[in-house]
Amino acid sequence: MKNKKVIVTGGLGFIGSHIVERLNDNNEVLIIDDQSTGKIENIKHLDFSKIDTTLGDITKINLEEIFEGTDYVFHHAAKISVPESLEDPLTSNEVNITGTLKILEAAKNMDIKKVVLASSSAVYGDTESLPLNEENPLNPLSPYAATKAAGELYCNVFSKAYGLPTVALRYFNVFGPRQDPNSQYAAVIPQFIDKMLKDKRPIIYGDGKQSRDFISVKQIVDANILAAESKENGTFNIGLGKSTTINQLFEIINDVIGKDMEPIYEKERPGDIKHSLADIQKAKSIGFEPKGDFKDYLKETVEWFIENS
Ligand SMILES: NC(=O)c1ccc[n+]([C@@H]2O[C@H](COP(=O)([O-])OP(=O)(O)OC[C@H]3O[C@@H](n4cnc5c(N)ncnc54)[C@H](O)[C@@H]3O)[C@@H](O)[C@H]2O)c1
Repeated sequence: MKNKKVIVTGGLGFIGSHIVERLNDNNEVLIIDDQSTGKIENIKHLDFSKIDTTLGDITKINLEEIFEGTDYVFHHAAKISVPESLEDPLTSNEVNITGTLKILEAAKNMDIKKVVLASSSAVYGDTESLPLNEENPLNPLSPYAATKAAGELYCNVFSKAYGLPTVALRYFNVFGPRQDPNSQYAAVIPQFIDKMLKDKRPIIYGDGKQSRDFISVKQIVDANILAAESKENGTFNIGLGKSTTINQLFEIINDVIGKDMEPIYEKERPGDIKHSLADIQKAKSIGFEPKGDFKDYLKETVEWFIENS
């Protein structure tokens, strides 16, 4: 993508900051972020002459004014914590559903070329039928997952009813540099790396045979750009199409950081799903084919944690 004006909502967050980083050299990038979980620090290494930042809440600011002359909107701002959504579903609804609706409405009115929404494999819930493809029934098990499903539906409606090009990308388990290991609800990869680098044994809940489809944030950025530039609308799984058990993941990280640690096994957590795996056939229609090697991406992530701890 070159010489475009793009907006990245949630651009100070983990995934959004990687989209900003990739597009920074050849495009004009505007970030909208309320800094609720995102940090300026995430983009401090970038060339600020081509980045503009609006520090505000997507549900409150005048989006149309900001969207004027924009080509693409990568919509990543959201309340992302599942446990927090269970405690406070109204806030999840306000930011993730009303916020998305406001983005779509402003995009429609300002003739945006395409909106790419960050959705989640959480919309599938827990199911035995793997790999998950886009035809699987939706079975959200949390308010967070329900907000993502609603966001997808609104994207579809705006494409069909108003002709606004939209794509919703269902991300599986994303990892990479700048992912927060410290929040109470941190994802497994940053948690393991952070602990193991400090010689602390990480906890595996259950027998470790549960599996996930882990995908690098760099591959997620590839998918976003392909989705924006493709003629396709609709919903697409974005994963690696391969699953890794938590035990295997632990051993790979041991290997990458050159240690021989043992995990601590604790009781399975209620609500944790057993397996997750993406069918990525449909994403091929937007040109998505995951590039690179899982272990190399893990190495790069470990290196970032070493440099930044
Ligand atoms: N990380 C994953 O594995 C994963 C998986 C599936 C989907 N997603 C989706 O990807 C997107 C990005 O997630 P992330 O992991 O980078 O999380 P993150 O918390 O790092 O990023 C979210 C960003 O949105 C901003 N934000 C939150 N509410 C806002 C509001 N009202 N107005 C403006 N900005 C606001 C935050 O400050 C933050 O910078 C989210 O939509 C999330 O649901 C992430």
